[in-house]
Amino acid sequence: MTTHYRTRRLGIAALTAVIIVGLVACSTTVPNTTLAPKTEFGRAIDALWDTLLFWGTIVFILVETFLIYVVVRFRRREGQPAPRHVHGNTTLEIAWTLAPAVILAIIAVPTVKTIFETQSPAPANALTVEVIGHQWWWEFRYPQYGVVTANELYLPTGRTANFVLKTQDVLHSFWIPQLGGKRDLITNRTNHLWFTPESTAVWNGVCVEYCGTSHANMRFKTFVVAPEQFEAWAGHQKGGAVFGAPAATTAEPAATPAPGAAAQPQSAVPSSTPPATAGQVPTYPADRLPLYAASYNPVPEDLTIGNVTGDASRGAQLYRTAPCIACHVIQGVSAGIVGPSLTHFGSRTSLGAGLFPNDARHVALWIKNSPAMKPGSKMPPFGKSPAMPAGYDDQQLADLAAYLLSLK
Ligand code: CUA
Repeated sequence: MTTHYRTRRLGIAALTAVIIVGLVACSTTVPNTTLAPKTEFGRAIDALWDTLLFWGTIVFILVETFLIYVVVRFRRREGQPAPRHVHGNTTLEIAWTLAPAVILAIIAVPTVKTIFETQSPAPANALTVEVIGHQWWWEFRYPQYGVVTANELYLPTGRTANFVLKTQDVLHSFWIPQLGGKRDLITNRTNHLWFTPESTAVWNGVCVEYCGTSHANMRFKTFVVAPEQFEAWAGHQKGGAVFGAPAATTAEPAATPAPGAAAQPQSAVPSSTPPATAGQVPTYPADRLPLYAASYNPVPEDLTIGNVTGDASRGAQLYRTAPCIACHVIQGVSAGIVGPSLTHFGSRTSLGAGLFPNDARHVALWIKNSPAMKPGSKMPPFGKSPAMPAGYDDQQLADLAAYLLSLK
């Protein structure tokens, strides 16, 4: 009776587990899956995977059926004499050598075909994007547009993006699950990868080759936008920084309009004359990021900042003599090349290669002590502390943050 009861309980538990797994599998919010490709590259790999899985399943079923048959049919029976020992069977040996060779040859056909398809040169009108891996952030260069940015990749729909993959230091690997990858960024070698995004969307990208302490913190976002929005974005990024009015820079970043909403005036501005005031910037608004692309890493509890309001003008003054200028470029202001370009820093949605929201508090904390927020960060702590009495106080940190965030 007890056994029967236990069996029933186990049955109910198993059924519940199956239902839960089934429901989870039906979820349509799977932004990081490779099984719903959104480019021709992704579909080629997916089709290959489906083909191999199909034939693999057939081979599995045949082999297991045969195995079970043999185990049952030739099992030991009571009173049976020991089986006759044999050694060697030429026919069988030839068969089980040939069969896998034939299977591999069959699998090789679609595999080699896909390799040739995905390794061929990109179409002539493709958008070139140089991807340079750094410990631990991504540099994106658009040589056809004269644009250099970091950690946030913009791509137009319907135009092939031809990635030129390089690294500044160690091995990294470039991957946007539903678009394409993974392809390594290798020292002293340039790798290529191309695909054509089909629909507007925000995608997460990650580094998928262990590259040191903050490998898991080396992320980026991809914004696939309409072609005219991309042109507007590139035109804006090419220009100098838009230094906003100080009043707009102290609070949390204000909502910016939808990509491309008021883009035409910006894209028409020549690169040599940055717009005098902050207009509407053709970048993706941080407050419209889908939840799966939001940056919400926790900040260590003992890293805090006073309740101060930054002043962008004071921050701009401070920046000109700050150690920041040794590593960061702000077009027309500083020329460092070690860290990410900050020319349009305020137009990005995230900070620290996708880890934190790009707002006043996080930026100030980042300058105060970035290694505490991102292990291994090459940027030293600049906040005032017993170990660094000459560091910036909270007001100065807030001023610098206000200035940087005003660079749209
Ligand atoms: Cu870069 Cu892992």
